[in-house]
Amino acid sequence: MDKISINTLGKYVSEEVTIKGWLYNKRSSGKIKFIVLRDGSGYLQCVYFKGNVTPEVFELADKLGLESSIAVTGKVKAEQRAPGGFELDATGLELIQESVDYPITPKEHGTEFLMDHRHLWLRSSKQVAILKIRHRIVKAIRDFFDNKGFTLMDPPILTPAACEGTSTLFETPYFDLGKAYLTQSGQLYAEAGAMALGKVYTFGPTFRAEKSKTRRHLTEFWMVEPEVAFNDLNDNMDLAEEFLEYVVQTVLIDKAEELKVLERDTTKLQKVKCPLPRISYDEALEILKKNGIDFKWGDDLGGADETIISNQYDKPVMVHRYPSEVKAFYMKRDPENPKLALAVDVLAPEGYGEVIGGSQREDNYDLLLSRIEEHNLPREAFEWYLDLRKYGSVPHSGFGLGLERTVSWICGLDHIRETIPFPRMIYRITP
Ligand code: 4AD
Ligand code: MG
Repeated sequence: MDKISINTLGKYVSEEVTIKGWLYNKRSSGKIKFIVLRDGSGYLQCVYFKGNVTPEVFELADKLGLESSIAVTGKVKAEQRAPGGFELDATGLELIQESVDYPITPKEHGTEFLMDHRHLWLRSSKQVAILKIRHRIVKAIRDFFDNKGFTLMDPPILTPAACEGTSTLFETPYFDLGKAYLTQSGQLYAEAGAMALGKVYTFGPTFRAEKSKTRRHLTEFWMVEPEVAFNDLNDNMDLAEEFLEYVVQTVLIDKAEELKVLERDTTKLQKVKCPLPRISYDEALEILKKNGIDFKWGDDLGGADETIISNQYDKPVMVHRYPSEVKAFYMKRDPENPKLALAVDVLAPEGYGEVIGGSQREDNYDLLLSRIEEHNLPREAFEWYLDLRKYGSVPHSGFGLGLERTVSWICGLDHIRETIPFPRMIYRITP
């Protein structure tokens, strides 16, 4: 027989079952002991009546510490008021391993303490809800592209050169070949894939040796990057907004329970529907000016600027056509104004900032070569990339969505560190 998990108890009402898990919580009132069992699929209140069980079981129910691993046996009862809708009229309790003095208690702990105990903190109900929502977001991302005929393509993680600028590279020695770098983005390889398969997406870990100590930055994060042959910047924005709507609306429907555990106010998320507002960088500067910010044309938008801009809208806003100086070497210039790059960033509402960055790519060999030289990038490492502009070059575009920024926004979290099981940040590499 399959092991019974708490989230399938509806099939076993009035039957006797045994469930294995961990002691999440307990309380007692005289002749009754309550144990809340968790098994990863849900929570189950198990009720031990003194008269119904042996004295040994009753005593064990009383003395066991939080997170002891146990097997409980009893009859399943429908109970509206219980979390999950069922309760166990318990008769048996078997100890698997006793947990004594579990370090995380219902009292408030500081962030550093919780981060040091991340391997245990993952067991608490909010962290479980976040991990489940993260998983659902990952699946929604894959479903969206799979259903649209994209091919998933896995780019290398060890790479010979920078993709997003040289200042944030992690490097490692690489045998007799010199140095290798942890990838900042799969994009350049996705471009090769788009020329082979038409529509591809990469989805994997990426790395930035960023010194930023903000609530939006990790040094290791996951990014999904679609890349489409023959798409221009407008097509790219169409794809990005349809994609965001799908991911957010799917998660709202499918993970309503978990969002409730996080006490997420979902009214703003409900509004993430196409079309999303599109403004140019110049229009964004107008907004900043109206809000009393003295912003120099040509600078990149900072986190605080993004918040002011996105606060003007109740949906994510797309900002396009940034000064090419602040953007990556591979972005195509706007034919109407070569000072601008055909770039787009999508800024999430509620102060969550940039969740998507993308662009139309430079598809002309000579222009791309001069960009590589202007950025002092090693030409040898980019010969293969230049080849894509030599043999059947076509207009093409794509974007990258940061998974953890998206989880943070959808879950309504204060900090990105809770969106990934074991976060890597400038001051943390353990556990
Ligand atoms: O804007 P970025 O740097 O764009 C690229 O890497 C392009 N190659 C994408 C493409 O066009 N294929 O990064 C894309 C997204 C950002 O919008 C943000 O959501 C996330 O990746 N991101 C980070 N997330 C967490 N921590 C960091 N340090 C991040 N840096 C970028
Ligand atoms: Mg960006």
